[in-house]
Amino acid sequence: MSRLVVVSNRIADPRKSAAGGLAVALGAALAETGGLWFGTSGNVVDGASADGPPQLQRAGRVTLATVDLGREDHDRYYRGYSNGVLWPVFHYRLDLADFEAGHLDGYRRVNRLFAQRLQPLLRPDDLVWVHDYHLIPLAAELRALGCTQRIGFFLHIPVPPPLILAAIPAHEWLMRALFAYDLVGVQSQADLTHLTRYLLNEARAEQIGEHVFGAFNRQLRAGAFPIGIDVDEFAALTDGAEAREMLATLREQYARRELLAGVDRLDYSKGLPQRVRAFRHLLEHHPDARHRATLIQVAAPSREDVPSYADIRRELEGLCGAVNGDFGDIDWMPVRHIHRTVARRRVPGLYRAARVGLVTPLRDGMNLVAKEFVAAQDPADPGVLVLSRFAGAAEQMREALLVNPYDTQATAEAIRAALQMPLEERRQRHARLLEGIRAQDVHWWRRRFLEMLTQGGG
Ligand code: ADP
Ligand code: F6P
Repeated sequence: MSRLVVVSNRIADPRKSAAGGLAVALGAALAETGGLWFGTSGNVVDGASADGPPQLQRAGRVTLATVDLGREDHDRYYRGYSNGVLWPVFHYRLDLADFEAGHLDGYRRVNRLFAQRLQPLLRPDDLVWVHDYHLIPLAAELRALGCTQRIGFFLHIPVPPPLILAAIPAHEWLMRALFAYDLVGVQSQADLTHLTRYLLNEARAEQIGEHVFGAFNRQLRAGAFPIGIDVDEFAALTDGAEAREMLATLREQYARRELLAGVDRLDYSKGLPQRVRAFRHLLEHHPDARHRATLIQVAAPSREDVPSYADIRRELEGLCGAVNGDFGDIDWMPVRHIHRTVARRRVPGLYRAARVGLVTPLRDGMNLVAKEFVAAQDPADPGVLVLSRFAGAAEQMREALLVNPYDTQATAEAIRAALQMPLEERRQRHARLLEGIRAQDVHWWRRRFLEMLTQGGG
C-alpha cells in the first residue's frame, strides 16, 4: 500500500486536540492511515525562510515535517496573497481583495520552497494529498522537479462563479496550475459546477468524460467530496468531563432562559454582524423573546494582521454593545460576545446547552460547526440548527432550518420558529441530520478521495 503524504499550510500534532476545520479533519485522516504530514511550523523567523531540510518529528504513526518561514515570505504568502487575495475572492468578496499589493511573488516563492523541501522526502509510490488555497501551485512546482507520483488537491473553501475568479489578475496562471494534479476535490456540487464552467469557458479545456478535463497536455479529474467530522470522537468529547461541566454551568446560569449559540473564527465570511442584526430584529419585533433568549457568540481571533479582520471585530462589538444597551436589563444581557478560542473539549457543552445553533455564514466551503452542533445534541431533547443556505453543509443538511443570512427579517423568523419548535419535530429533524453526518463522516471523505486518486484520472 502506498504511503500517504499530506501537505497543508498549517499542521497539527494528531496526538493533541486542535481547532480549525482542516487541522481536525486531517488529524483524523492521518491517525487511521499513518504517513507524512508536511507544512509550516508556525514559527516565523527573522530574515529569510529556513535553509536546509525540514524538521522531522514522530507523532504516533505520523511523521510531522515542518519548515520555518521568514517574516517577509510569511507576510507575502500567508497574509498578503492567501488571505488578502485568494480568501476574499473565493468567498465572493472582490471588494475586500487587495490586488494592488503584489504579493504574488511571495506566494510563488513559498510554494517553490515547499516543493524543494518536500521532494527529497518523497518515495516513488507515495500518494500525495495537497490541501487548500495556500498551495494551489504546489503540484506544478513538484512536477518541475521531476515528481511523477499521483498528486491530489482538495480545496476547503468555496469556488465562486468563473467571472469572479477571472477578476484575479493572475487567474490563468493560478488555475492552469490545477492541471498538474491528477484529482481536484471541492466541497459541494455548486463548487463543482463553478469549477467545470471555469475550466470549459475560461481555461478552454476539453471535456473528456464526466468531470474529466484535458488541457496543457494533461488530464484533470474533478469531484465533489463534502468533508465531514469524526462523529464518534465528537460524541466522546461531548461525554467528557469538561464538556459536561460546561453544560452544567450553563444550565444553572440560564435555568429560566433559552440559549442561542454561535461558534466561529472571527471572519467576515461567517456573517456575524448579520446574525446579531437578526437577533436584534427578533427582540424588536417579538417582545416575548426579551428576557428569554440569550445569544452566546464565541468568536476566535483570526488573521488579525489583515485589515478587514480588524474592521469586522469593531463592527461586531459595536452591534453587540448596542443590542445590550437598547434591550438589556439589570438581570439580563441579551448578547454575550466572547473574543477567544474556547478549549475544544468544552465546546460540545456549549452546543448541547443551546436550544438553537446559529451557523449563518455569508459563504462557507463546508462549515464543520454545523455538523459538530448536531453531533453534540441529546437525541431525546435536541436543539435546532439554523443554517445558512450559503454554507456548503446546506447541500447535505436539508433538515436544518435553512436561511438567507442577508435577509434579516427571515433569519429572525427562523430563529423564532426554532425557539418554538415542538419536541417531536426537533427529534425527527435531529435524527435525520445525525444519520447524514454519520453516513458521510471524515473517514468516508478520506476514503472516497483517496480511492479516486489511486484509481483514475491523469
Ligand atoms: P473554518 O475552517 O473556516 O474555521 P469550520 O466551521 O469548518 O470553519 O471549522 C471550524 C473549527 O474550529 C471547528 O472544529 C470549530 O469547533 C472550531 N472553532 C471555531 N471557532 C472556535 C472557537 N471560538 N473556539 C473553539 N473552537 C472553535
Ligand atoms: O478551512 C479553511 C481554513 O482556511 C483552513 O485552511 C485553515 O486551517 C482554517 O481555515 C483556519 O485558518 P488559518 O489557518 O488561517 O488560521
